[in-house]
Amino acid sequence: MNRPYIFCHMMTSLDGKIMGPYMETPEGNAAGDVFYHISFGKNPYYKHQGWLSGRITTDDNFTFYEKPELNEQAPLVPEGDYIAKQAGMYYVSVDPSGRLGWKNSTLTYVDTTAHVIEVLTEKASNAYKDFLRRLGISYIIAGAEALDYELAMSKLKNLFGIETLMLGGGGILNWSFIQAGMCDEVSLVIAAAADGSLDTPSLFGVRDGLSCNKAVGFELQSAEVKDGGSVWLRYKVSQQSV
Ligand SMILES: NC(=O)c1ccc[n+]([C@@H]2O[C@H](COP(=O)([O-])OP(=O)(O)OC[C@H]3O[C@@H](n4cnc5c(N)ncnc54)[C@H](OP(=O)(O)O)[C@@H]3O)[C@@H](O)[C@H]2O)c1
Repeated sequence: MNRPYIFCHMMTSLDGKIMGPYMETPEGNAAGDVFYHISFGKNPYYKHQGWLSGRITTDDNFTFYEKPELNEQAPLVPEGDYIAKQAGMYYVSVDPSGRLGWKNSTLTYVDTTAHVIEVLTEKASNAYKDFLRRLGISYIIAGAEALDYELAMSKLKNLFGIETLMLGGGGILNWSFIQAGMCDEVSLVIAAAADGSLDTPSLFGVRDGLSCNKAVGFELQSAEVKDGGSVWLRYKVSQQSV
């Protein structure tokens, strides 16, 4: 397999929501700790070298909808990918058009530090690639207009040595990867909490042009009761559709 092993690791409310006030309840906080320690911290279950996030997840958590500081007069950057450095952990950001206003090439999530890799398509401008180079942020180019999943995943493995990759949301990214056959396992921590919101995104979400509502089956691998009444479910993606 010329790509990393890909597991989708997420926390949800009882009704499958991936954000919202339920996260601030004692049960939500307990599930948040369970979620973190399965994949990060000192003794994680998964030993991955990077995690992948959609552009909205990155804007909500790390770049806060800031505009990138572009120099439209920048000289043409060299063609192809840019490997700024190798690292023990990578934050891989799917940002096809090059919109994210990074300030730094490194981020810290709780107590995990990671080097940023941007996944661009050929839609991203020269000025945006110049912006990333000035910050020392690595980037790969995968696809003309739409993301070329196979190319992106093979580059992560071959250029950065990522053997295991966490698919880390949001719902739009998760579902597009599952439908593209690019997810091997789903690891789900369900909090014993809910807030009933109709507006917050769910674990999986269709986005026209990226995915559709073709059904997928999952095969249960394990189920464990965890702190705060949360449960940890692991499923193989079986790719059976109806
Ligand atoms: N509970 C949890 O465990 C958890 C984990 C992660 C995130 N979250 C939350 O989830 C929320 C965001 O989720 P979301 O579903 O709305 O958005 P998302 O998946 O984070 O981002 C969607 C965007 O990412 C890009 N993208 C995703 N898949 C793509 C593909 N296959 N090809 C090309 N581009 C692709 C597109 O960017 P462009 O629009 O630029 O084209 C798309 O609009 C955030 O609030 C975050 O905090 C929760």
